[in-house]
Amino acid sequence: MRRSVLCITLFSVMSFQGAAAGNLADFKRPLAIPFDKVMPYSLQLATLGKMLFFDPRLSGAKNMNCASCHNPSFGFEVPVKTPVGAANTHLTRQSPTILNVAWATSLFWDGRAPTLEAQAAGPITAAAEMNGKLDQIVADLRAIPDYNNWFKQIFPDKGATRRRC
Ligand code: HEC
Repeated sequence: MRRSVLCITLFSVMSFQGAAAGNLADFKRPLAIPFDKVMPYSLQLATLGKMLFFDPRLSGAKNMNCASCHNPSFGFEVPVKTPVGAANTHLTRQSPTILNVAWATSLFWDGRAPTLEAQAAGPITAAAEMNGKLDQIVADLRAIPDYNNWFKQIFPDKGATRRRC
């Protein structure tokens, strides 16, 4: 299955080193990160993902980014029970940390997303979270010369597309 660019790029960002839990071998972090095989890790891809992670232009009102609720300063979560989203309303659930989710086999508190690919577009388009519209986001990114160039360099066939953003 081909992964979306945003997913892959965010996936790279989310592979930060987390704290190891004790010395027990069962809890040791695996040495290899399970990167995508179709679009393997590269510094350029990870950098693009990092930019998107922190870019409020992925939200409808251009006021929220992933770090609004997964803040690196707070362990990639936020220290409140119910974070506030784009609609200026409290979400019903706490933001989980996204450290080490590269290895997660189910995502969200109820495990409803089986992969990062299945999860990726959710927060961007959810009205209560970032309220972004994928078509608009693609148009916006294509209109930004640097983004347009970077997407074209990394994905020379079509650059930024809805599937990839
Ligand atoms: C307004 C707050 C908010 C924003 C913005 C937000 N998230 Fe989240 N995120 C959450 C909440 C709350 C959950 C848990 C939702 C649930 O379990 O139903 C979550 C869950 C996740 C998970 C699953 C983690 C796990 O261990 O299950 C990932 C991965 C994730 N978010 C990535 C992102 C990315 C990438 C972005 C930006 C594109 C983003 N989030 C933007 C609040 C937010």
